[in-house]
Amino acid sequence: IKKLRKDYNKLKLTQKLEIICLMTNKNNMIHQYCDEIFDAKLLSPNFIIDKIISDLKYNPLNKILFAIIGPEKYLQDGMSNLFLHHNIPCIGPHSLYAQIETSKSFCRDFLKDIGLSDHIPNYKIIENFELKKLENYRNEKIVIKNDGLCGGKGVLVQDVNFKTIDDINYDIIQKNSKVVIEEKLVGEEFSLMSLTDGYGNIRHFPPIQDYKKLYDNDEGPNTGSMGCLIDKDNTLPFLNSKDIETAQIINNQVIGELNKYRECNNLNIGYCGILYGSFMKTSDGIMVIEYNARFGDPECIIALELLKTNFFLLCQEIAQGKLISKLDFSKNACMCVYLVPKGYSEKTINDDKFD
Ligand code: AMP
Ligand code: GLY
Repeated sequence: IKKLRKDYNKLKLTQKLEIICLMTNKNNMIHQYCDEIFDAKLLSPNFIIDKIISDLKYNPLNKILFAIIGPEKYLQDGMSNLFLHHNIPCIGPHSLYAQIETSKSFCRDFLKDIGLSDHIPNYKIIENFELKKLENYRNEKIVIKNDGLCGGKGVLVQDVNFKTIDDINYDIIQKNSKVVIEEKLVGEEFSLMSLTDGYGNIRHFPPIQDYKKLYDNDEGPNTGSMGCLIDKDNTLPFLNSKDIETAQIINNQVIGELNKYRECNNLNIGYCGILYGSFMKTSDGIMVIEYNARFGDPECIIALELLKTNFFLLCQEIAQGKLISKLDFSKNACMCVYLVPKGYSEKTINDDKFD
């Protein structure tokens, strides 16, 4: 939001840009750059969208240029569908496309079906999870994933979250739930985010590395994130240009194939917004760990910090289905470190309540 506001101001247009934000917890940093905020815990998105639209209708100069959806929950709940229904361009895909993030089983099957088997680990989907179903995996290293969204806490990695299958209980992975069991991969992880406009135009951000471990030196449990980094020249020390190109090609293919859902489901537009690929460089090549249908948190901070192209204009191009500008980036190395409250990751702590 800060970048949007700053880049809009650089254009020196006479029309005022009004930013309206819908949030579940008041974030003072975000609040500074908004004209109005709504508490998403109290008001339904449907109600708010109707209110915004009807308020704006009274002033013919006003026009909603676009909406941007941040959190995955709203993508899952179909907030983009609502905006699209009102013909408001939305940077954030329809919930059908967002399944690439909101269902791990959908994502794995989709990647296999579009011919990317060489870039995913061996996996099995279990509809009704029971601990005894893990017996077959006793001699393998595995990862167990809840099918649905869990705020970055739904994945159990062997040797990180459990040692042997006897250590697992029904706390994180519920009995009878749907899970994905997959081969544990070994290597360095990186994220590659791409912008796309719903009509197949795609622009890539450089690769950025998320740091998920709670403690220094790659120790401790995985968190939602503790920060991220990029080396100079828009790269990471363990990647070569072929690796980056491979990740870009995979993202292109995923967007191209998701766009085919448009016709099958009578949607007006293809996948529009951000596709965030989470990858691992392994001895078998570049593998997909997961997909998100939004900006990475906090990869977005580095990506937008380095972006020299005007972000407001880019959003407009996406909203108009004409993403034609090239992305230009500063070549500096960059690092983002989270300052987190005690208990972060285990507990959700929100000090900043709405007034
Ligand atoms: P996800 O929510 O799918 O990104 O998983 C969270 C984290 O679990 C990832 O960032 C990886 O560190 C780890 N992870 C997920 N899948 C695998 C896998 N197949 N092999 C090794 N680590 C994985
Ligand atoms: N950086 C991980 C995420 O946004 O889910």
